Amino acid sequence: MKAQEILNGMTLDEKIYHLVQMTTMTYLKTDGTNIVTGPNSRMQLDKEYIYEVGTLLNLVGAQTMIDALTNFLNGSKKKVTPVFMQDVIHGHRTLYPINLGVAASFNRELAHDLAAMAAKEASLDGVSVAFAPMVDLVRDPRWGRVMESSGEDPYLNGEMAAATVKGFQGDMGKYNIAACVKHYAAYGGAEAGRDYNTVDMSERTLRQYYLPPYKAAVDAGVKMVMTAFNIVDGVPCSGNKWLVKDILRDEWGFDGVVISDYSAFEEMIDHGNCQDRKECAYLAMEATEDIEMMSPCYALYLKELINEGKITIKQVDDAVLRILKLKEELGVFENPYRSVNVEEAARVQVGPEHRALARCGAEESAVLLKNNGILPLSKDVKSVALIGPNANTGEIHGSWHCGGKIDETITVLEGFKNIIGDRVKYAKGCDILYNSTDESMIDEAVKLASECEVCVLCLGEHQEYSGEGNCRANIELPEVQYKLLEKVLEVNKNVVVALFAGRPLAISKLDELAPAILDMWMPGTEAGNACANLIFANAIPSGKITMTFPRELGQVPIYYNAYRTGRPKLEEDDFNRVRFTSSYLDMPNSPLYPFGYGLSYTDFEYSDFKLSASKMKRDETLVASVKVKNVGKYKAKEAVQFYIRDVVGSVVRPMKELKGFEKIELDIGEEKTVEFTITEDMLKFWNKDMDFVAENGKFEVFIGKDSRCKPYASFELV
Ligand code: GLC
Repeated sequence: MKAQEILNGMTLDEKIYHLVQMTTMTYLKTDGTNIVTGPNSRMQLDKEYIYEVGTLLNLVGAQTMIDALTNFLNGSKKKVTPVFMQDVIHGHRTLYPINLGVAASFNRELAHDLAAMAAKEASLDGVSVAFAPMVDLVRDPRWGRVMESSGEDPYLNGEMAAATVKGFQGDMGKYNIAACVKHYAAYGGAEAGRDYNTVDMSERTLRQYYLPPYKAAVDAGVKMVMTAFNIVDGVPCSGNKWLVKDILRDEWGFDGVVISDYSAFEEMIDHGNCQDRKECAYLAMEATEDIEMMSPCYALYLKELINEGKITIKQVDDAVLRILKLKEELGVFENPYRSVNVEEAARVQVGPEHRALARCGAEESAVLLKNNGILPLSKDVKSVALIGPNANTGEIHGSWHCGGKIDETITVLEGFKNIIGDRVKYAKGCDILYNSTDESMIDEAVKLASECEVCVLCLGEHQEYSGEGNCRANIELPEVQYKLLEKVLEVNKNVVVALFAGRPLAISKLDELAPAILDMWMPGTEAGNACANLIFANAIPSGKITMTFPRELGQVPIYYNAYRTGRPKLEEDDFNRVRFTSSYLDMPNSPLYPFGYGLSYTDFEYSDFKLSASKMKRDETLVASVKVKNVGKYKAKEAVQFYIRDVVGSVVRPMKELKGFEKIELDIGEEKTVEFTITEDMLKFWNKDMDFVAENGKFEVFIGKDSRCKPYASFELV
């Protein structure tokens, strides 16, 4: 059956209900009870059409899908197959690191392969659409959802978005699923880092920094877009015609499915933008929103709006057709159960192959923030005191763990045992609560520390201290964790801290106290093996942060691609007091760790910086190149970064912008030349007249290991 034919056979009521998304649980019982229970109770839907909705969400398990779909089709008159959508954010059943970690790998291929793995696992459970990638640009680590973003840079976020879309969607084959980029738009701009809070910025900032990653996903062929809870220019995204119809569809040419976030249509009433659900339905349809997730505005009021001539049947047809075309592409009209396979799912999910890839992901995402030389540890170490609230727990696999199971997560203790057997000893030391004052376990840990050669402290956050609705006004390490660290240091100077967190923490004190800090983020199902492999140099750290770590929360928002201001504080004066500059009385401007920063066990030497010409015509390209040599003792990977600064513009321009990166692997002593091609497109920005153009003038170029690199050449665009 073709989409148009199915549409032609639908009544108006069936079309309207096709725009509704219900939770899968609605269809796991056939006695109708859960249609009016739980989150469904507020839906007040007409029971006659409950089996005519178009899509379902929140599903985990092949058998669950089979049961729900069978019940659905048995109950449905028209039997237009629904598709199942799921938050496959950093893995489905095998979890890999949170996305802020995967971004730190600076490895497009890795991001792609991890998404492809997640797609296969999800497709075997009957999932057809992933509500991912989340590409919201972030600048405030108080926001809980920084964990699922790729960080503060538009270009890097866009590269990771495109890689993830292609990983999920592939050639839309059996083991592929459709991707749904979110949250359109600028959800990461929530004031004070408080979830669902006001977003307010100029159109130029929106277009220059926040929109490019969504466009990168659209250009990569993403099948769906999810609109965000927040307002843009005073209007909630769910009903924002300028944002959704004018920009996303008309300007960017996106003709796929747009879905709301959970009950976000109805929340336009809470925003104070709509009087009632009827007005919500009107604004959403005018904005060309297709699917309403878990609120009833369309179901209850579209027909009335059509009868009043406010909405046309064609608008409804267009929305239904976009959904039916997606279903056609997914092949569910031929086979409603698509790729679901209970036996294959059980065999493949969390199997050795997927664990191995998740482990590589965790190893390559980790960032070595500090190392006085204590790392890596020798595998011949006599004894290791493994201490801390994150040392012996599976609850370090990340907040969007959807199908992941805690008891399948390799704990750090298990990971260490896999390498040094019973030479690792464990003590908890303190609990993970951010407000804990319980010091009763410290003495036992200190005693163990005094008896062992080296101590590894697993500190940080619980995985539910980040993620949706998990924002923090204080992003310091809890005092009790510092107390534990200080007491251990009193009896043993050989201390390594493995940090598990879903965000950049304000850890200046940790940076002072700890001889070494390895940031594991929330590493996923293979957490413990990855951590142990990195500590013992079975794997070499190569991650680099994509979101600035502030010295103190007071510096936030702090990000590398900022404007210079009219009174810049010069870098050489960073620790000096220079009044009447853009600076603080009590703190340097520089962050604790800057964008693009991360250490290795080896050293890389950058030399022979070149730029192919000093002038560039608009139809030409230039090449910036550098030689990178591994001058250390370990074969390792390095994320080489390329930045450009537009020195003068009709509006102010950032001090530098990432325009390229390449992850290379060098053997000991090996040297490679890395090249970046400069194009006119790369130089375009939203100028004073809000045209997206490149302006003539001087540009500086930078290549380096992090965003602190200095310009080594310049060219003139003529
Ligand atoms: C949540 C999130 C969104 C998710 C959706 C479905 O509220 O904002 O990212 O995809 O609801 O779970």
